[in-house]
Amino acid sequence: MTVVALVPAAGRGERLGAGRPKALVPVRGEPLLTHAVRGLLASGRVDHVVVAAPPAEVDQVADLLRPLGPAVHVVAGGGERTDSVRLALDAALTFAPAADVVLVHDAARAFTPPEVVRAVVDAVVGGAPAVVPVLPVADTVKQVDADGRVVGTPDRSALRAVQTPQGFAVDLLRRAHAAAEGAATDDAGLVERLGEPVATVPGHPWAMKVTTPFDLAVAEAVLAGEEGR
Ligand code: CTP
Ligand code: MG
Repeated sequence: MTVVALVPAAGRGERLGAGRPKALVPVRGEPLLTHAVRGLLASGRVDHVVVAAPPAEVDQVADLLRPLGPAVHVVAGGGERTDSVRLALDAALTFAPAADVVLVHDAARAFTPPEVVRAVVDAVVGGAPAVVPVLPVADTVKQVDADGRVVGTPDRSALRAVQTPQGFAVDLLRRAHAAAEGAATDDAGLVERLGEPVATVPGHPWAMKVTTPFDLAVAEAVLAGEEGR
């Protein structure tokens, strides 16, 4: 069983507003991307990692990740997250031609515990062709119209917040991306459009996505707590 992890890391990090690509923003001395790739490798289940870097920063990112070893490859990402995933998926054909399982993991979810990575891989290996880690939703969620007026309140008990890594049988993800029209916010969404089933495994609070300065402060605090143990 060969597992390749794709890491979309080519975003500009506009909501974080750190003046550089989010993947390169340091938390306790190391960029988010380094934490993310380290976590994937620490799972012991990932054979190759393909990072989609901001096109202008490919060499810098390759230098940054070189200490993590020859299993980590860096390619240029694209304009939208979906483009970055597709470019990394294409590159995986070269770097990991024997891969049968593919993970897609946001660099922004840099502190995902290795146990979550293992749970996703094990579920795919166990026969689920598409798997996402999820958490219950704590807030009540409203659906609104274009003017912000509430039009509905979905039953919260049936809602889940979705994290990464998302795991797939490699052929299914290829098919999903080949059929994709327009961007999607996650890869499982493309698989759903094919009418294929998507399974869930328990996610983890630390797999939170670092989007805003508040999230970065939370991540700093989580890591400080970890290092202090
Ligand atoms: N991503 C990517 N290529 C893009 C856009 C996003 O690889 N063209 C990646 C980001 O680097 C991130 C993940 O997709 O790891 C999730 O995207 P998001 O959290 O939106 O990050 P950014 O696009 O960088 O942030 P923002 O939307 O605030 O600019
Ligand atoms: Mg974005």
